[in-house]
Amino acid sequence: GHPHVAQRDGQLHVEGVSLDALAREHGTPLFVYSKQWMLDALAAYQRGFAGRNALVCYAMKANSSLGVLRVFAEAGCGFDLVSGGDLVRALAVGTDPAKIVFSGVGKTRAEMRQGLAANIGCFNVESEAELDVLNEVALSMGKRAPISLRINPNVDPKTHPYISTGLKGNKFGIAHDHAPAAYRHAASLPGLEVVGIDCHIGSQITEASPYLDAMDRILDLVEAVERDGIRLRHIDFGGGLGINYQGDTPPAADALWQRLLARVDARGFGDRKFIIEPGRSLVGNAGVCVTEVIYTKPGEDKNFCIIDAAMNDLPRPAMYQAFHAIVPVHERSTDATIYDVVGPVCESGDWIGRDRALAVEAGDLLAVLSAGAYCMSMASNYNTRGRAAEVLVSGDSAKLIRRRESVEDQLLSETI
Ligand code: LLP
Repeated sequence: GHPHVAQRDGQLHVEGVSLDALAREHGTPLFVYSKQWMLDALAAYQRGFAGRNALVCYAMKANSSLGVLRVFAEAGCGFDLVSGGDLVRALAVGTDPAKIVFSGVGKTRAEMRQGLAANIGCFNVESEAELDVLNEVALSMGKRAPISLRINPNVDPKTHPYISTGLKGNKFGIAHDHAPAAYRHAASLPGLEVVGIDCHIGSQITEASPYLDAMDRILDLVEAVERDGIRLRHIDFGGGLGINYQGDTPPAADALWQRLLARVDARGFGDRKFIIEPGRSLVGNAGVCVTEVIYTKPGEDKNFCIIDAAMNDLPRPAMYQAFHAIVPVHERSTDATIYDVVGPVCESGDWIGRDRALAVEAGDLLAVLSAGAYCMSMASNYNTRGRAAEVLVSGDSAKLIRRRESVEDQLLSETI
């Protein structure tokens, strides 16, 4: 999963740049991203959509750092955003607002006004209550809001329960059976313009079948809604495609989309515009987190390898028991010991990897892999820890895209 992270001359590199050199220059913990990996991942989607009217809206929640957003904006992507703050970030990197879709179950009136003022391409509406409020806000601004309804297709994405979003019991979207009525309601509101339909069934999906099922269900609805005389110009199929963390074998984006589009064509909807919202699959294995071993601590039951990255930098193990591979930046020839790799935060949940065989000593550098998605964007200041620095690598060059957060940065918004 990490073709751009490789051992060379006895040490780990991202593309042409040594992680040891980057750690010495910028300190640790340090996120390092391969631009080429992102572009290759995007190219796989683009191949899948060759000859179609399609727009890739990068789901920026996966990693919303400006330097990363700029890569996708330059490559022609739009953005899927979920807050007014996300909108400011997207506009800051020079996105065409028409390529923006705005998702989320809890958009506020202020966020709606912000999106309408920017003339974004589509609001992905998740409830009838939101339809009514958006209608009101748009009318008050003398505008019509372009909308799509997020449908809950009720398919099981077969992933972690916290990141499955398309099942009946969760908070997202409008129930499939209720969708035609919701569309009729939307079409009757003068402040709204129905432009599409959307869904998103979950994240880190590693099988094609949930996608194929969801597509069938969405196409059923396109048929039903259009029978009511409401034209759907685009079909937004969300994101969710998984990456390889630990021997995972998700379908390739191009192969998956060839299969999905075959179904679409068979039903006669191949002329529609397609929007997708991939996040993780565009950045997940582009990134590593370089961290230094502070201490090794042998114990009776377990040995601990204490590193300077923690759950505030890499929250996925603590939150989802997620697996991230951990590899030494310099290989040692000494025997490996089995360690729990943990951070300095004062919680037992602050672990990054369990039962890992590592030959390490204090002062060594480790790289936590698959750290491009949902790490920096979910980072916090817990324990007054500043957020890490980030570097974007392209070929032999490296650029600091976020300086390390200082304690002064953290105290800035507070008063005594
Ligand atoms: N579109 C919508 C409406 C979404 O809710 C999401 C992710 C995406 C697109 C992008 O999904 P992706 O292609 O990245 O799977 N923090 C969790 C993942 C949460 C995903 C939430 N929604 C994790 O670290 O695994």
